[in-house]
Amino acid sequence: MEESTNQPAAEATAGAGREPHTGAGEPAAAGAAARKPSVVLGVSGGIAAYKACELLRRLTESGHDVRVVPTASALHFVGEATWSALSGHPVSTEVWTDVHEVAHVRIGQAADLVVVAPATADTLAKAAHGLAGDLLTNTLLTARCPVVFAPAMHTEMWEHPATRENVATLRRRGAVVIEPAVGRLTGVDTGKGRLPDPGEIFEVARRVLAAGARRDLVGRHVVVSAGGTREPLDPVRFLGNRSSGKQGYALARAAVARGARVTLVSANSALPDPAGADVVRVGTAVQLREAMVKAAPDADVVVMAAAVADFRPATYATGKIKKRDGQEPEPIALVRNPDILAELSAERARPGQLVVGFAAETDDVVPNGRAKLARKGCDLLVVNEVGEHKTFGAEENEAVVLGADGSETPVPYGPKEALAETVWDLVARALPPATGA
Ligand code: CTP
Repeated sequence: MEESTNQPAAEATAGAGREPHTGAGEPAAAGAAARKPSVVLGVSGGIAAYKACELLRRLTESGHDVRVVPTASALHFVGEATWSALSGHPVSTEVWTDVHEVAHVRIGQAADLVVVAPATADTLAKAAHGLAGDLLTNTLLTARCPVVFAPAMHTEMWEHPATRENVATLRRRGAVVIEPAVGRLTGVDTGKGRLPDPGEIFEVARRVLAAGARRDLVGRHVVVSAGGTREPLDPVRFLGNRSSGKQGYALARAAVARGARVTLVSANSALPDPAGADVVRVGTAVQLREAMVKAAPDADVVVMAAAVADFRPATYATGKIKKRDGQEPEPIALVRNPDILAELSAERARPGQLVVGFAAETDDVVPNGRAKLARKGCDLLVVNEVGEHKTFGAEENEAVVLGADGSETPVPYGPKEALAETVWDLVARALPPATGA
């Protein structure tokens, strides 16, 4: 988890470009800007409901005013008293409580963000079809703020065409539907369908609140590579590089918050999966190429943030290479790896697809970057100056983003998240109009 996790809510909403609601659907006056952001936590009936207690605690402790709206079946898993005590608000599941206050309309109108965690297949279906039989579904229909769904269900239910279509409908309308995690499910089965870690859901919620009006990647599919490839020599050794994956992961997280469907192709990064992204793990440059070529046909944007080894050992020893007394070591013969960025740029899988590359340069940063942009044929090239203590593994960096149109956007020294936002700003401006999800 990044240090920014416990960033105060007031700071998190500072860049939102919209004031928190007053409660009547109107933006708050400037003087009321200190009001806590209002979050509705919808909880539907799955065993993972207990994990929403931790999410609720993180939201309240970081300065959000949280109303919990469980479904009736959620209360079979965690009772009303728990939600009420942790949120400091009364809890109701149906529209017949507080009728004089028209709670079923007011709660949604007053929200700055709605997060549904866990979201069952049933709740996703109701939300996609606009049903309004209880307080949560009423709230979803009246909310005009961003909505985040964190689904949890058995793998078969998640993969069923009905659920796939409901998820696509919700995403097309601008909701963030987080990809479930893979792992142990209720009972003995394992697979995709686990509720992501509450800390990761919190992080998505925080970023979606901060992104506010910048929901300019809704309906887009972006594919990002991150980390560094490893080229094995034998079962215990490899040729690798120092890339941590932080920049690519920051890009993935920022794109989720701006509404994109995100595929993250991760090469050997130790970072936790960013909630909301579909993570594909790879090891070598050849595997990274395969994963990118597989994901690209459906992508509006492809970003090559991974550090790819230009060469790999010509041979792989199936047993550990041993030293022999009195013998010089064998030189390591290398062969070229494919240039994935050049290939993706030359063979655009879709008309209007944007391709973004990264360049690590140690000197003559801009001239070398321009030459590399032309050589690789991409639309944007983010050029970083690297050295032993610069960029690799660091939290911050400085860059210049070069455009094929001759543009040059300097990004001052700062967090990798800020660079990620600048990249998406430039991408969102350059994308052709969306044709639908
Ligand atoms: N890249 C790639 N495939 C490779 C090598 C690099 O797709 N085999 C991509 C990287 O992901 C990055 C960009 O190309 O987006 C530039 O990477 P960099 O290492 O700076 O460039 P190189 O092609 O290695 O060029 P040079 O060795 O001349 O610096």
